Amino acid sequence: MNKPVEISVEDLIEPLTYSVEAFTSRDYAAAEADLLWAKVWQHAGRVEEVPKVGDFITYDIGDDAILVVRTAPDSLKAYHNVCPHRGRRLIDTPCDANRTCGNRKRFVCGFHGWTFDLQGKNTYILDESDWKGELTSERTSLAEVRVDTWGGWIFINMDPECVPLRDYLEPAAGILDPFAFEKMRYKWRQWVIYDSNWKTALEAFMEPYHVQGTHPQLLEYGEYYAYSAAHELHGVSGFDQRNPDLKMDQSSTITRAGKGPDARISTYELQNEIYNTVNNASTTETLVNAAKRLVDELPEGTPAQEVIAHWLASAKADDAARGVDWPEITSQQMSKAGLAWSIFPNMAILQGITFALCYRARPYGDDPSKCIFESYAIERFPDGQAPKTEWVYAEPTAEKWGSVLAQDFSNMASVQRGMKSRGFRGTLPNPHQERKVTNFHRNLARYMGRGWPRLLKRT
Ligand code: FES
Ligand SMILES: [Fe+2]
Repeated sequence: MNKPVEISVEDLIEPLTYSVEAFTSRDYAAAEADLLWAKVWQHAGRVEEVPKVGDFITYDIGDDAILVVRTAPDSLKAYHNVCPHRGRRLIDTPCDANRTCGNRKRFVCGFHGWTFDLQGKNTYILDESDWKGELTSERTSLAEVRVDTWGGWIFINMDPECVPLRDYLEPAAGILDPFAFEKMRYKWRQWVIYDSNWKTALEAFMEPYHVQGTHPQLLEYGEYYAYSAAHELHGVSGFDQRNPDLKMDQSSTITRAGKGPDARISTYELQNEIYNTVNNASTTETLVNAAKRLVDELPEGTPAQEVIAHWLASAKADDAARGVDWPEITSQQMSKAGLAWSIFPNMAILQGITFALCYRARPYGDDPSKCIFESYAIERFPDGQAPKTEWVYAEPTAEKWGSVLAQDFSNMASVQRGMKSRGFRGTLPNPHQERKVTNFHRNLARYMGRGWPRLLKRT
């Protein structure tokens, strides 16, 4: 029947399928550790989590553990979080936490007390003379991991031969640079150990094709037909107005006109619905309030394009008055950036002018049916007024995550279980609206290599 073939970006417009092995097989999950996670840049946290020299965070991925530390006001370093003596984890990450953080002048191993400075250099070995001068500083130092930042995110890569972060992120980074995510700060951050493969979880957020089936209440407020495009390793989706007369700047983005005859009213209703059901994310209080005033500030019959321009200008002025600057970003740049990005392999960014809603999923232990799922909102705040946040464990309920994410959660574990059915004949992703998903599998298959057949093939 179907024969494995190499899939190119051009092929993504064709109907494709991929095997469920990637989601259900323990062997596949084990191979991912070596072939994927050990090779890719992955975001380990935000720069704001380590503001002072000595601040550190841990990041665990499978059996690997990384320690990121600020070594100077303008410098970060990352190490494998393991003591070179007999292999004790240097900093423990409790099983019920998604990471550890703190501030240290030095790192002291809990087993025999070997000590390391912030540069990873060993500064103390108990009874060092027992080794009769055989220990080298290289052998007793912490093993370094590549680290770099973009957009306020800290990225690590365990592969010493990896390409520079910027090259890895292009062209996504260039298209998203105007948002200046580094000026945003956490608004909230939550995580959960969830009953699905990490890819099942991420793919629940890769396309708006599911809005009709999963979030039917949103159809009252907007059109959700979407495009989905591959950008090398990464992918983007955006709203795709099928009626060319209604296409306008911003219409592919989250800050767009709502559905209905009066854009003054529908724009407010859409923003208000998003704010209330997406856990106070994917828009801001400023944008909601400015949208609420549209009906008082503009005459009936104002064309949608003018309504949007007025709305954004007044929200920008409101933000300026409270000390929040908007980035220099044109509506063309906004439109080009679309609605939501997938940064390979496991990061999702749904961006707006002054905010973003982000997701990350990664394996939990060696079980392909479990993952650590995290979501957080970032936003621009007046200087010094960002809220104090930490990672909060939150059961996947509407009460904790908002009703829209709860609807998404309701699919994820069910997809994971459904894919194990012997009656499931493989996926049939939408060649137009779910191209991000097939592009993800195209790239995953390239990392995993030929030892893993049937990862992506023609139907
Ligand atoms: S394992 Fe760390 S000092 Fe012995
Ligand atoms: Fe959704």
